[in-house]
Amino acid sequence: MATENNFASFMDRMWADYIKMTPQALKIFNLFQQSGETVLNDHIALRTFNHPRLGIKSLAQHFTKYGYKEAGEYFFVEKKLYAKHYEHENKEYPKIFISELELQKVSPLIQEIVTNCVNQISDEAIQQEDFVFSGRHWISQHNVYEKLAKESEYASWVYAYGFRPNHFTVNINVLKNFNDILKLNEFLKHNGTKLNASGGEVKGTPQELLEQSSTMAAEIPVQFADGIYNIPGCYYEFAKRYAMPNGELYQGFIAKSADKIFESTNSTSKA
Ligand code: NI
Repeated sequence: MATENNFASFMDRMWADYIKMTPQALKIFNLFQQSGETVLNDHIALRTFNHPRLGIKSLAQHFTKYGYKEAGEYFFVEKKLYAKHYEHENKEYPKIFISELELQKVSPLIQEIVTNCVNQISDEAIQQEDFVFSGRHWISQHNVYEKLAKESEYASWVYAYGFRPNHFTVNINVLKNFNDILKLNEFLKHNGTKLNASGGEVKGTPQELLEQSSTMAAEIPVQFADGIYNIPGCYYEFAKRYAMPNGELYQGFIAKSADKIFESTNSTSKA
């Protein structure tokens, strides 16, 4: 049964998986709480491939059963990504942003590697809601990860981590003392956070109705078949929304800004 309690538990399990991968997010979350803030999520982002068994719908089904509805679509031509976002009528529920790599546009090498990974996932696993944070269903090789990263950083990330939240996003609008994104960024940097500066630390403008910033994903140790390697993990994002002419806060996304935010999982250890 899709109940509110079940949804809360589903979200808690997803958050638990995320902070295990992203200690910096937990640190920032705790800083907010210690400052007396209530932290609500603006959105949660998930990544997948548009393989017939695994497209956006295979992840979205676990949210639509709780009442989420499709609300917008986005194209990222250069990165060969397509995305949709889902919203719930309860505005306290985070939006869900799901992107997929368009396999028909990538090289035969990526197509072959991904197909091989997808073939190792059972239909049963995809149908369970915990699939959303089930991680990897295959054994990854570090040299294959590097090959993928050369062509698509996105493909390499999913190959290394599988299915799990790529980022959670703090809703800046409900923060009491960090309601200004510049002030928030200063606070984060003061506390030792490295921000994604691709396209500037703040993506978007009040005129575009959405301002976003994000941390750079910290490197974490990942087990590959041939050993443990440190690679970029997940990041934490921050979003401030502005009112549309009808007075309601804009709830969509800006493809140009999201395009730069995807780069928060780029490796920064190499030139
Ligand atoms: Ni995001």
